[in-house]
Amino acid sequence: MARRDASATGPRPDVLVVGGGLIGLLIARELALAGARVEVVDDRQEGAASPNAAGMIAPIAESIADQAFARISIRSRDFWRDLAPALEQESGMSIDYDDSGSLLPVLDPAGRKVLDGIKARALGLGEAARDLDPIELRELVPDLRPGIEEALLLPGEHRVDNRLAAMAAAAALRHRDVVVHRATVESVAEAPGQVVASGDGFQRAAGALVVCGGAWTPRVHGLPALPIVPVKGQMIAFDGIDWPFTGAIRTPAFYAVRRAGRRLLIGASVEHAGFDLSLSDEVGADLAAGAAALLPPLKDREPVEHWAGLRPGTPDPWPIVGRLSERLHVATGHFRNGILLAPLTARMIAPLVLDQQPDDPWLAIPEVMLPGRFAAAERLSS
Ligand code: GLY
Repeated sequence: MARRDASATGPRPDVLVVGGGLIGLLIARELALAGARVEVVDDRQEGAASPNAAGMIAPIAESIADQAFARISIRSRDFWRDLAPALEQESGMSIDYDDSGSLLPVLDPAGRKVLDGIKARALGLGEAARDLDPIELRELVPDLRPGIEEALLLPGEHRVDNRLAAMAAAAALRHRDVVVHRATVESVAEAPGQVVASGDGFQRAAGALVVCGGAWTPRVHGLPALPIVPVKGQMIAFDGIDWPFTGAIRTPAFYAVRRAGRRLLIGASVEHAGFDLSLSDEVGADLAAGAAALLPPLKDREPVEHWAGLRPGTPDPWPIVGRLSERLHVATGHFRNGILLAPLTARMIAPLVLDQQPDDPWLAIPEVMLPGRFAAAERLSS
């Protein structure tokens, strides 16, 4: 819903970030750290990906079987190691960052083979991977169904409370006096020496713009056509979990991710349903049943939450990050890996927007991520 925003006055910012999800907030933070005058505009879209995600930072367990993608993901996980304490320090709040790893139980002999493949792949990428014996496994997750005797642990995988991380990023921006406008940007237009973002009752000119609108990005008029589609994910949560393992458990069918405060998140469906955010009892029951088949004590509990979010999907596995025209940039399409790739994305796009050389070779945006790989974007931005 669009709102009139009275605070869009004062000196023109160097950069306006359109979209205040975790990626937009971290981009704004990087730009502010680099000395730019930056503002954010966000409309708190219901179903936005970052507050509705699971918060996994899992470069092997969650990523697609593509070495380049895994290497990029590992680099972003490395950035999280520094970012998490920095956000906590800058905001004065905990973001429930956890580096216990991902635990992949062996469910059957075929599963053992798959996990051996995942282990070999992790080790080949220089990532830690080790088999847990039955005693270690039971100690970590005593609720596992009897008969599950082994698991693969990926100790380099982390998780974060994505809602807290976004709150901390917003607080860190407030401490730097970065203004966050509440408004829906409906269109962007380049004018000599500036670019203007407008919506109902909102208008702001800036030296440059970064659009991080997630699944809603194609709704912003004035951008080249970007092939982003919403991909709905429903999740449920249980309370009262107190096993020692505080990371994420993954099976081929679902994931179960711990939170501080005895909560366990179970996800997620993958549905092509446009912008529909309705909750299906059937999907919720399927998630609960799948989780209870692995963790039988869940049979006696009722989920305490059921929600849906919209991942921004692209036709290929990669996000869309880069320059659209001289003053217009985009960072979206992170599909299932937005929380994981947020720090790397922010550090990639900030130097590009500011026409600076990145200080790390990993920050050069690979061609597979550039918007120009899609014909329509190439045509419209040339
Ligand atoms: N990254 C979790 C999901 O997309 O379901």
